[in-house]
Amino acid sequence: MSEQGQGRGGFPIIETDEGFAQRLDERDPLREMRNEFLLPPGPDGEPAVYLCGNSLGLQPRGTAAAIEQELEDWSKLAVDAHFDGANPWYSYHEAFREPGARLVGAEPREVVMMNSLTANLHLMMVSFYRPEGDRYKILMEADAFPSDNYAVRSQVRFHGYEPDDAIVLVRPREGEECLRHEDILESIDKHGRETALVLFPGVGYYNGQAYDLAAIAAAARKQGCRVGFDLAHAAGNLPLSLHDDGADFAVWCSYKYLNAGPGAVAGCFVHARNGGDKTLPRFAGWWGNDPKTRFRMHLEEEFVPVEGADGWQLSNPPVLALAPLRASLALFDRAGMTSLRAKSVSLTGYMAGMLEKLCADRVDVITPADSRQRGCQLSLKVRHERPREVFETLQREGVVGDYREPGVIRVAPVPLYNSFHDAWRFVQVLDRATR
Ligand SMILES: Cc1ncc(COP(=O)(O)O)c(C=O)c1O
Repeated sequence: MSEQGQGRGGFPIIETDEGFAQRLDERDPLREMRNEFLLPPGPDGEPAVYLCGNSLGLQPRGTAAAIEQELEDWSKLAVDAHFDGANPWYSYHEAFREPGARLVGAEPREVVMMNSLTANLHLMMVSFYRPEGDRYKILMEADAFPSDNYAVRSQVRFHGYEPDDAIVLVRPREGEECLRHEDILESIDKHGRETALVLFPGVGYYNGQAYDLAAIAAAARKQGCRVGFDLAHAAGNLPLSLHDDGADFAVWCSYKYLNAGPGAVAGCFVHARNGGDKTLPRFAGWWGNDPKTRFRMHLEEEFVPVEGADGWQLSNPPVLALAPLRASLALFDRAGMTSLRAKSVSLTGYMAGMLEKLCADRVDVITPADSRQRGCQLSLKVRHERPREVFETLQREGVVGDYREPGVIRVAPVPLYNSFHDAWRFVQVLDRATR
């Protein structure tokens, strides 16, 4: 899987001086995108080196205006803004279909922005985790994000099974940090007949490993399993092709790489082959009902789901919470996922190469070196007695990353707003902090 003739992560030649990073920035066709974001200040008042977009993305400059627009319509039009507003509230969610579909490689009818990630995961499991007879298990990665774990364990119990029996965990091999692709596929083959649902992330939150979603979906479907993806760390980070990959569903949040703000409204994908299936059990609410009969509920008490992902909505769209997504998705459309990915491979490859040149004896990158097996995040294990102190030094020096026990520092140079110079500054600080 390694890229021939290239260094770490596909970056061919790396000079460690500041001028080299500055020249890379000058040649970056996306460098203007950084001006579209509000960069938080570091302790010295200068913009911090913000490498935490894997946790909370930065605020686009257009966000305030997007919210203001809805506040203004509320003040001037009140209830009439549902139909007469600049962006009518009644159909507010519909504006996200097209940009959302471009973002995750789907058809517009397959995408809806609603709720939050864990809530959507539960809604999807109501429809796509249907244990029956010998087929009752959920197969997932061993180190899944805690909320996914809680959600899965509670669903399994809800259906009357014991998590220790009904959850199959795929683990990295002894002494390894990442999963081997062949081990995932082998596990699906081995447990497929007793598995009701295969649930995998697009990118692992801890190690930054990107998975081959098409192969996982194909292997799962060959075994007759339903398959779903948690794309919290993949949406806006990697180009995706959800429709072609063939998952039954996917869920993601919008506060990381999508820069839509803390607790932002999340995304949900339901494959077209399921979108019209009215026999699928689901939890219903009026916004999932066919709009033709939505307001006749006292006359027609039976829920009639609208076709597509919209049919899983419960409530009317939270307009003020959705507004930041308009500003954020416009930036993705402007930059384009293909260009963003090209910069991301260079930027993360540059950072990995710098780490190798300057800190290889003190810092292990546990994220795969092959750029095809990672997004922009690098997870670093610092060989230090007190790795948290290294992280605290980074904070004092104006580098914002995050720290996950036991001793992993995660940094994500985000192609929309990070520069090569950010990566250079980070490695300089890390180099000093680990000596
Ligand atoms: C992989 C993954 N799954 C689930 C969640 C939980 O998301 P939420 O709190 O939006 O439900 C997160 C949050 O960071 C996450 O990274």
